Amino acid sequence: MHEFKYKNNQFYCESVRVQKLAERFGTPLYVYSYHTLISHFLKLGQAFKKINPLICYSVKANSNLALLRALVKKGAGLDIVSGGELFRALKAGCSPKKIVYASVGKTEKEIEYAIRKGILFFNVESLPELESINGIARRLHKTANVAIRINPDVEPKTHKYITTGKLTNKFGIDLRSARQILLMRGAFTNIRIAGLHIHIGSQITESSPYVEAIRKVVAFIGNLKKERLFLEYLNIGGGLGIIYDKETPQTAKRFARKVLPLLEKTKLKIIMEPGRFIAGNSGILATKVLYVKNTSKKKFVIVDAAMNDLIRPALYGAYHNILTLEAENKVKDKVDIVGPICESGDFFAKDRLLPRVKEGDYIAVMGAGAYGFSMSSNYNSRRRVAEVMVVKDKVFVIRKRESCEDLIRNELVPSFLSGR
Ligand code: LLP
Repeated sequence: MHEFKYKNNQFYCESVRVQKLAERFGTPLYVYSYHTLISHFLKLGQAFKKINPLICYSVKANSNLALLRALVKKGAGLDIVSGGELFRALKAGCSPKKIVYASVGKTEKEIEYAIRKGILFFNVESLPELESINGIARRLHKTANVAIRINPDVEPKTHKYITTGKLTNKFGIDLRSARQILLMRGAFTNIRIAGLHIHIGSQITESSPYVEAIRKVVAFIGNLKKERLFLEYLNIGGGLGIIYDKETPQTAKRFARKVLPLLEKTKLKIIMEPGRFIAGNSGILATKVLYVKNTSKKKFVIVDAAMNDLIRPALYGAYHNILTLEAENKVKDKVDIVGPICESGDFFAKDRLLPRVKEGDYIAVMGAGAYGFSMSSNYNSRRRVAEVMVVKDKVFVIRKRESCEDLIRNELVPSFLSGR
């Protein structure tokens, strides 16, 4: 459920007409619904109330400070993957004790930064990384908390680029190696192994891969107990799928019904790292039709947003629903919706039946709240777009549109090239 809907044939975000926002702030424009964001976060918490998990929103899905702050104020922790995300998380006022840090390639600087700030734990993805964290912690005279990221080798049935829990993926540590690491934990003088972590992929619409992965890890934890090895946390990662098209993803409740019994059995503190589930349907990308171009083979609707603003269709062939902001025209055309970038991969939809639009009309690319702005770039020297947050009838700019000066801010022309 989300708070983007038609009222009297006009498209609204909460109580604000989206076209008004497009006209006022210009396009392309990311528009977020505060209440959609928060309600998804609360829904998950509610479904898992029985075990009171720490929900660490995955910053990479949408790292805008205002969104992070909104979630942190409701009690969220944060899941990060870089020093930059740690910086953001702290700026958003998140307690370090609610921050978990995954990534197969944490640098020495990033590890030191996180240890100094006292994050809850690192999700460790390899033995060399563990050794590195231990060495850095020793140098700092600290003990670093870690969870071992397990690669449970399960098929999450999602796009291969966002599958992360198979042994052919670069993520995590297989169960056998994890056991060896745990048994030799005494060798890591400055590390406390606090728990285990799994994250098997993203946009997972069924619970069975989770159940399979959690079962494996629960059995593993059981065996560790027999060896008198006790843990405190189990982090089950993120990955919950949302509706973009015709998916019928599990609801939070249904997901909880399937996995809660397994999780309860562990008696461990449970952590979750949802990104898309919370942010995905809370944002849209509003864009303006620049031209309608007819060729002998196709009808192209050329809009002012492009693959640099939302790369998911180009990168994964991802489907995003597209709606017109004005009253739906009953006449429909089969069109390709494309951006101005000089690549044929620059499209939002192909052969899509869309109510007829003309130059100057606006459309909304739905489900753009997660991995939309956060994956945007300046390709083709396009300025990154503005973001606004709607709270009932109020609108807040949460990121200004970049200027041309922003584009070249960090660039330097060597002195030998200056002059004539
Ligand atoms: N935890 C870890 C360790 C992750 O790597 C990720 C996502 C998450 C949590 C959050 O996953 P979510 O709940 O959002 O599915 N750019 C892709 C998605 C990449 C996901 C990367 N990792 C897309 O646009 O579909």
